[in-house]
Amino acid sequence: MAIRNVVKEGDPVLSKVCRPVDKFDDKLKALLDDMYETMVANDGVGLAGPQVGILRRIFVIDIGDGRLEFINPRIVSTSGVQEGSEGCLSCPGEYGITKRPMYVTVEGYNREGDRFSLNAEGLLAKAICHENDHLDGILFKEHVIRMEKK
Ligand code: NI
Repeated sequence: MAIRNVVKEGDPVLSKVCRPVDKFDDKLKALLDDMYETMVANDGVGLAGPQVGILRRIFVIDIGDGRLEFINPRIVSTSGVQEGSEGCLSCPGEYGITKRPMYVTVEGYNREGDRFSLNAEGLLAKAICHENDHLDGILFKEHVIRMEKK
């Protein structure tokens, strides 16, 4: 495993729409391992492909309950609303209050290529929305009601 460089806001790679993963091979597993290691090393709770310069539809999340991997994810339903602080490893030191769904149902594939469905709430739901946005070139600031003081 290796820690990769995290792309920062202003890099055009962060505004691109990512392509689906089509090969569930060892290269993908190595990438997911690197992404997780990079996220942990930077004290993050989530990291998406474009943040390490990879324009594929993948992200990793760990909100403290263990490692989750999402490949070709699709948010199929959302409900409720939550307001709270949010940041991003690509925008170091910047935080803002966002409005996000309280509940999401997401479908995707694991690293073996098996399909799964997950119901998430609270912080996990917020993280899934945040990371999924990265796959479409969207940063959390587009959801910010007001930025917080540094
Ligand atoms: Ni982010």
